[in-house]
Amino acid sequence: MTSELPSITIKGTGSYAPQKVLTNDEISTFVDTSDEWIHSRSGIKERRVAAEDETTSDMAKKAGEAAMKAASLSPEDIDLVIVATITPDKPFPSTACLTQHKLGLPKAVSFDIEAACSGFLFALETGAALLRSGNYKRALVIGSEKMSSITDWTDRTTCVLFGDSAGAVVLEKGTIQGTGFLGANLSSDGASSDILHMPGGGSLIPASENSVATRQHFLKMKGREVFKFAVRAMEQSAVDILQQHNLTTKEIDCIIPHQANLRIIELLSSKLDLPMDKFFINLDRYGNTSAASIPLALDEAVRSKRIKSKDMILMLAFGGGLTWGSSLIRWP
Ligand code: ACO
Repeated sequence: MTSELPSITIKGTGSYAPQKVLTNDEISTFVDTSDEWIHSRSGIKERRVAAEDETTSDMAKKAGEAAMKAASLSPEDIDLVIVATITPDKPFPSTACLTQHKLGLPKAVSFDIEAACSGFLFALETGAALLRSGNYKRALVIGSEKMSSITDWTDRTTCVLFGDSAGAVVLEKGTIQGTGFLGANLSSDGASSDILHMPGGGSLIPASENSVATRQHFLKMKGREVFKFAVRAMEQSAVDILQQHNLTTKEIDCIIPHQANLRIIELLSSKLDLPMDKFFINLDRYGNTSAASIPLALDEAVRSKRIKSKDMILMLAFGGGLTWGSSLIRWP
């Protein structure tokens, strides 16, 4: 990045996962599947499912609280709340406004970002850009998803993959160059929007008896096409961001990929010639938590000391839109 821009420090991370664990074996009691199929095709063993009355903003609040605690900040210190989600509490108002209220943040400007599973990286770049604009000092950037609310529990091709959770980081405008959030490389292409989408509930197919009867309010996915796109997109984004920052793969200490499928990550590892032990993986325990997956993994990696001071971290995402991208962080 150019040296005249203020640096963006990561002041703290936090996460939250609901208590209820849903195992592959339990799923195989209500759809025709097995632990062996799910684990061998995706790497997932279990996922968390939010309580019926537990919302995306409830989970965002808990992750945000943990990140603020890790950063030793009080409510008055937060100027911005950005929530990345595809499972907002309601179509409007934004989940960020609801989260701001639940956290009691008196002066935070709050809004949502929707870029599906890439949402957290889009929110991080937005937060950093707004801090650099000069009007704000600290941003709480959260990915939170109640995927169970848009999962078709009768569709074995999708219901085995997703889970609920939230993760958060506090960004702060700083002065120490070369550390913190170093930049992002983001992309979108609406041409293939139908390979990963939820058809109903918007202006195209508003809720109606027919839309409910035909199951339009659930996530739909062409798994194989998404798989191929994911590997291609994350590989290219990684190559591009390393080039932009004059880095080689050898200088990357830890990769936090979107936690969708272990086979996608394994292919990425071989294509980028980066060993698997550089990838932080927790999808076996949480499944794909969409916009929450990267901040949840980041927080676990930090708290388990997998990430150490001065580590160079590469985050990689892909998702509906289509959207994809990468971000670089030099850990403080
Ligand atoms: N249990 C048992 N059999 C199943 C299941 C299941 N849960 N799901 C599908 N099958 C069957 C299919 O019906 C098919 O049977 P057939 O050959 O008789 O037709 C067979 O298994 C193979 O199905 P495929 O879809 O070809 O299986 P594949 O090996 O591609 O794995 C998977 C499917 C895991 C979904 C894979 O394609 C994948 O991971 N894709 C990427 C998904 C992803 O990353 N999504 C991220 C979404 S991000 C966001 O923005 C929300």
